[in-house]
Formats: sequence, C-alpha cells, structure tokens
Amino acid sequence: MFLEKERKKGHLVGFVPTMGALHQGHIALIEKARENCGLTVCSIFVNPTQFNDPADFAKYPITLEKDLKMLSDAGTDIVFIPGVSDIYPPGNGGQTHYTLGTLETVLEGKYRPGHFQGVCQVVHRLLDIVKPEILFMGQKDYQQCMVVRHLIDSYQIPTKLETCPTVREPSGLAMSSRNMRLSETGKTNAAEIYQTLQFINAHLQPGPLASIKDIAKQRLLNVGFKIDYLEICHQFDLRSLEYWDGQVPIVVLVAAFLGDVRLIDNMVPGKLVRVN
Ligand code: PAJ
Repeated sequence: MFLEKERKKGHLVGFVPTMGALHQGHIALIEKARENCGLTVCSIFVNPTQFNDPADFAKYPITLEKDLKMLSDAGTDIVFIPGVSDIYPPGNGGQTHYTLGTLETVLEGKYRPGHFQGVCQVVHRLLDIVKPEILFMGQKDYQQCMVVRHLIDSYQIPTKLETCPTVREPSGLAMSSRNMRLSETGKTNAAEIYQTLQFINAHLQPGPLASIKDIAKQRLLNVGFKIDYLEICHQFDLRSLEYWDGQVPIVVLVAAFLGDVRLIDNMVPGKLVRVN
C-alpha cells in the first residue's frame, strides 16, 4: 500500500533481495538502488527451498541486528523480513516448476540440484509482493542473474534487472556471507580464486582451453581447494567451451570448497573489476 502511494508520486522502487549476513557487496547494491530509484527496498529471507544441502541451511549465518544497522546507515527506505508462511503460504498447492532449460543442468545447476527452482520460487514471490521497477543483483552470482532474467522474461514480469559488479576484499576474495566461516588462513588461501581468475585473464589465448584450465585448477588444488568446477563458458548459455575462437563472449566460472565452505566466483575476461 505504502509502496503503491510512493509509486503514484512517481518514485521508482528499487529492490535488493538478500539472505542477510550482509556485507559491502550487498550494500553496494543498496547504493546502486538509491542512485537510480526514489525508494529502496531490501528483503532479508533465508530461503529454505534453495538449499540443496540441509547442513548449509543450518549453518547459514544470521546477523539481523548488524544487518539492520548497515541497511539504516546505507539509507535503505524499507526492510522487508518475511516469514516462511508469507513466502510459501500454506494451502497454496504445490510449488510452481520453472522451466530453465540447460541453465538448470550446468555449473551451479548440476552441483546444487533444485537450487535454482528455489531461487525462482522466492524471487518470483518477492517480485509479486514488492513489484519493483528495478531489481538489483550481483554479478558474483552470475548464473543466478541469468536464471532471474529468464524468470522475468518468461513470466513477462514488469521489472528490469540490473546486474552490479562483484565487490571484493582487498585480497581480491569476493565478498560472501560464507566467508565468515573461513579462518584467517582460509581467507588468505581463498583469495587464490581471484589470483587464478587474474591468471586466466592474463594468459587466455584463442585456441584449445584444456591446458589453461588444468593449470588454473592445479593452482586451486595447491592451496587446498576441492573443486566442483572451473569452466570457461559461452556468456549467453553457459555451455562449456573446449576451444575459444577469440570472438565469442566468454565468462570463467569457479566453484570450490575450502574445508566445508563452498565459494563461487567468476570473471568476464577483460573486465575483472576490483571494487573495494
Ligand atoms: P545473497 O547471497 O544474500 O545475495 C544477495 C544479493 O547480493 C545477490 O544478488 C548477490 O549476487 C549479491 N552479492 C553477494 N555477494 C556479492 C558481492 N561480493 N558483490 C556484489 N554483489 C554480491 O543471492 C541470494 O542471496 C539469494 O539467492 C536471493 C537472490 C536473495 C534469493 O534467495
């Protein structure tokens, strides 16, 4: 209702959905929303349906008071903290199944079965409630952005998706709520993902990709990572490439565990931006 009134005043509503445990990466999205919109809404909801691993859900950090302080300091207008029954009303029948094609079977889709169904369920519901003109999401979750773009297109949702650059620690480590679970040594080792992406950025040549991928994987293995994937993919459909003609737009995507902490990162060659 309040949002409706604001919209009638001509204010664009900018929306930043999160799962809390906020860091500068989230705040950069809030700042971007404030730059572009008259009203900024942030949601905090640890969405159970997108966790394929119940242990990951159980361990997901919750820092609500700190989050609210950060959001208030950043000038967020509205913080929406729904309960499970607001997002998944009881008696609402089964959940919608989203047709995501190969986006659901490659990379995160392959290693986290059901994850993107959960993301679509929650984002669809949140967009339905908040009805933002612009949705702000991070490139850190590259494939998630593609999935949400697909959701918006297929349901003709009148919201524009704005993808924002990955915010990194001074070491290059992509900020993530999961970084809190790393030891100091773990954080130092985790920065090797960024170093490896930089290495690929510097050495990538048109031609077969096997050897650069092998070297990159070895760098991660050397500091103790267990790798889910390190792939060089076509930007438009995320199909893995074994050969690069030097022309097609590519993106390098990584997911790897340090101990029981799973980290993801990506890089569009030539555009490895560092934002501290
Ligand atoms: P969460 O991991 O909390 O991330 C919320 C938003 O912050 C996402 O758009 C994510 O891409 C962005 N983000 C996270 N780390 C970032 C970084 N280092 N730099 C820039 N942006 C960053 O992603 C989710 O929550 C959930 O899947 C959600 C979309 C809220 C649905 O539950």
